[in-house]
Amino acid sequence: MTGIRRPAWRRFASRVRFGGYRLTSRLEPLWRRHDGGILPPLHLRMYYYGTGRPDAFALQCANARLELTSRGLKPTDRLLDIGSGIGNLAIGLAADYLTCGYDGLEINPEAVAWCQAAITRRHPHLRFHRADVVSQAYNPAGRVSGTTFRFPFPDSAFEFVYLGSVFTHMMPADVQQYVDEIARVLAPSGVCIASYFLLNPETSSLVAARQSFKSFGVIHNSGLARLHDESVPEAAVALDEGFVRGIHERAGLGIHDVRRGKWAMGTANDQDVLTVFRRA
Ligand SMILES: C[S@@+](CC[C@H](N)C(=O)[O-])C[C@H]1O[C@@H](n2cnc3c(N)ncnc32)[C@H](O)[C@@H]1O
Repeated sequence: MTGIRRPAWRRFASRVRFGGYRLTSRLEPLWRRHDGGILPPLHLRMYYYGTGRPDAFALQCANARLELTSRGLKPTDRLLDIGSGIGNLAIGLAADYLTCGYDGLEINPEAVAWCQAAITRRHPHLRFHRADVVSQAYNPAGRVSGTTFRFPFPDSAFEFVYLGSVFTHMMPADVQQYVDEIARVLAPSGVCIASYFLLNPETSSLVAARQSFKSFGVIHNSGLARLHDESVPEAAVALDEGFVRGIHERAGLGIHDVRRGKWAMGTANDQDVLTVFRRA
């Protein structure tokens, strides 16, 4: 893999498209009344989920909540949501579930600013933190490398850590640093739920046969990942399963369960989900 830059016309086209969404965001209140709780602006909903429909966003919130409550999240748990995006999990849990607080950690400056202004203001126990980690997809001007980033939390601070579609946008060396940090901030026996595109012999042959939901046609120079778009490496990343298992083992994290998604068979964005616990 080489450091290919996205062609100028594609950068221009995406700026124009996003500018259009922004403009529509300002106009949205004129044609759509929303009385159903906290709703991110239209351009952020489009950017994150490819649709502006409020019910589609509500479904994202409900799914994120179910993902964690079905895996044992208790109202008294302290929860860290890495890659908290536009607050789907925070809104899904909001004021009625968690009693001990929620921390979101996110690199997209606009997403963090919106969550702080719209969510924390109403629910002060749901807090959002900006990490200036560089990512060509989400924070190209970032000044910190993921390979050295230390989470701004003390050791053993959380019973639960969640990463919904975040390691699917990170390079292997950054994922390794994050897994070490997760092991540090998890309380003994604490649980981490994280989604991946895992490459193993079965999924690799489906990718090679061009059946997967993204092409993943580019081999990363580490040999530990495949990328969908060489010019925006973090656009979508599939990671070698042996590598993922090894970094958990070395960090003192046990893999309790792997839910196999159908992404490699072409089913849209159905990711693999690992349930991991910190060894006591
Ligand atoms: C596909 S979105 C998922 C957002 C949300 N978790 C959800 O399930 O809808 C990926 C999110 O991860 C964030 N992200 C990407 N790399 C990150 C990193 N190194 N550290 C923290 N967040 C990151 C992006 O900014 C983006 O908000």
